[in-house]
Amino acid sequence: MTTEFDVIIIGAGPGGYNAAIRAGQLGLKVAMIEKRSSKKLGGTCLNVGCIPSKALLHASQLYEAAEKDFGALGIKTGKISLDHEQMLKQKDDAVEGLTKGVAFLMKKNKVETFFGAGEITAPGKVRITGDSETELTAKNIIIATGSDVTPLPGVEIDEQQIVSSTGALSFSSVPKHLVVIGGGVIGLELGSVWRRLGAKVTVVEFLDRILPTMDGEVSKQFQRILKKQGVEFKLSSKVTGAEKLKTKVKLTLEPAAGGASEMLEADAVLVAIGRRPHTDGLGLKAVGVATDKRGFIETDHFKTNVPGIWAIGDCIAGPMLAHKAEDDGTACIELIVGKAGHVNYDTVPSVVYTYPEVACVGKTEEQLKEAGIQYKVGKFPFAANSRAKTNHETDGFVKVLADAKTDLVLGVHIVGVEAGEMIAEAVSVMEFGGASEDIARTCHAHPTRSEAVRQAAMGVEGWTMQA
Ligand code: FAD
Ligand code: NAI
Repeated sequence: MTTEFDVIIIGAGPGGYNAAIRAGQLGLKVAMIEKRSSKKLGGTCLNVGCIPSKALLHASQLYEAAEKDFGALGIKTGKISLDHEQMLKQKDDAVEGLTKGVAFLMKKNKVETFFGAGEITAPGKVRITGDSETELTAKNIIIATGSDVTPLPGVEIDEQQIVSSTGALSFSSVPKHLVVIGGGVIGLELGSVWRRLGAKVTVVEFLDRILPTMDGEVSKQFQRILKKQGVEFKLSSKVTGAEKLKTKVKLTLEPAAGGASEMLEADAVLVAIGRRPHTDGLGLKAVGVATDKRGFIETDHFKTNVPGIWAIGDCIAGPMLAHKAEDDGTACIELIVGKAGHVNYDTVPSVVYTYPEVACVGKTEEQLKEAGIQYKVGKFPFAANSRAKTNHETDGFVKVLADAKTDLVLGVHIVGVEAGEMIAEAVSVMEFGGASEDIARTCHAHPTRSEAVRQAAMGVEGWTMQA
C-alpha cells in the first residue's frame, strides 16, 4: 500500500472532498481521511446537515401545501396524512445517493480514501487510527475537519428529548411542543419542518431579533411571516436550565438582561446556538498549529503558521457554509500547486431554506451605516410581482443596496419563494464589480420572480416601473 502522497486531506466534507477533486484534476497524488463511523463521505453537509435538512424541508413544505393550499388551486385530495417513516426514509435515500456520488468522484479523480481518525504527528506526517493504524506522509497536509454543535451549559444534549440538529433530523414522531433554543439558521429551518408536520414550535432567542447577522429589515419581515405561519418567539431570552421529566423537559427561561425567571414545558428541545470548530484529537498543539481564542485555526490564505499545514472550511474563520468550504478547498489546492487561488468572501451568499426563503449577499444596511458608507436603496415587494401574484406567493421583498456615488452593488437581500435561486444573479453581478444599473438594464424573463430583482435595482435610481 502506498503511504506517500503529494497532499493529505483530513476530513471528507465539502471542503475536503472538493479539495481532493481539484488536487486530482491537477495531477496530485491525494489521500483523504474520514473518521465518520458510517464510512460515508460528504461530511456534516451530506450526512447530517445541508442535504437531510433540505430533504425534510422540501417534503414538509409539500405536505403543508397539500393540506392547506391545494384546495384553493382547485386540487381536491382526500384527507392528507403523514407517513413519518417514509418521510425520514426519503431523506436517508437522498443522503445515501449523494454520499455514494462523492465516493464515485473520489475514484474518478484517483483519490485514495482512508477511514479512521487522522492525527498530525509531525509536519508532513499523519497517523490514521481506524480498523488498523497507518502512517501517511506528504509535503502538504490540509485540515478540513469542519465543525460541531456548540453545547449550552445546563441543557445537556441526549439526542432523544434534548437534541442537536442531528437528532432533529430523525425524531421518531412529531413532538407536540418543540422548543428551539437559538433563532438562527438551524433553528428556523428545522423548527419550520416540525411545525409544518404538526408541532407547536417556540423559538427562544438570546438577542432581540432572529437571524441577527442578516439585514435588520429582513429579520423583522421574516419573523412576521414565520409568526403568521404559527411559530412563537421569545426574543431577548435565555434558557438557564433544563430538567428532564419522563416524557417532558422543563426549561427555565430568563430575560437576557436578567430578571424574573419563567418555566416552559416542552416535549422536545432543539439546541441550535451555533457551531464551533472541530479540531479534537488532531494533534494541533503538539505540532504547534495556532488557533484563535474560539478554537478556529488561524490562517493566511489557508496557510497555518506551520509550513506545509493548511486549513479550510468550517474550522477556519469565515461563514460556516458548504459552498464557502468548497471554494476554500479549490483555492487552497491551487495555491499549493502555485496557481492564484483566491476566495472573495464579500460575495459568499447565505440562504435560509424556509418557505419563503431568505437569501442575501454582501453588506447589510447596518454594516454600511457602521462603516460610514453612503448608499442608496432600491426595494420591490413580491406583492407587485406578476409571477408571485399568479402563484399566490406574495410574501417578501427584494432590497438592493448600492454605493451612492459609484452605483456599485454592495448588498442584495431577498425574502421570497426561491430567493436562494434568485440570489445567484446578485452574486454574479457583484463578482464582476457590477452596478445596480447593470441589473436594472438587463432583460429578465417574464413572468418570473427575478423581475422583482430588476425592479428593486431600478429603485436605486428611483425609476421602479411596476409598483
Ligand atoms: P464538515 O462538513 O464538517 O466535514 C468535516 C469532516 O471531517 C467530517 O466528516 C468529520 O467526521 C471529519 N473529521 C473531523 N476530524 C477528523 C479527523 N481527525 N480525522 C478524520 N476525519 C475527521 N451549509 C450550507 O451552505 N447550506 C446549507 O443548507 C446548510 N445546512 C446545514 C444544516 C445543518 C443541520 C448543519 C448542521 C449545517 C448546515 N450547513 C449548511 C453547514 C455545512 O454543513 C458546513 O458549512 C459544511 O459541512 C462545512 O464543510 P467542511 O468540509 O468544512 O466540514
Ligand atoms: P447561528 O449562528 O445561525 O444561530 C445561532 C442563534 O442562537 C443566534 O441567533 C444567536 O444569537 C442565538 N443564541 C446564541 N446563544 C444563545 C443562547 N444561549 N440562548 C438563546 N439563543 C442563543 O447558528 P445555528 O443556527 O446553530 O447554525 C450553525 C451554522 O450552521 C450557521 O451559522 C450556518 O453557518 C450553518 N447552517 C447553514 C444553513 C444554511 O446555509 N441554510 C442551515 C443550517 C446551518
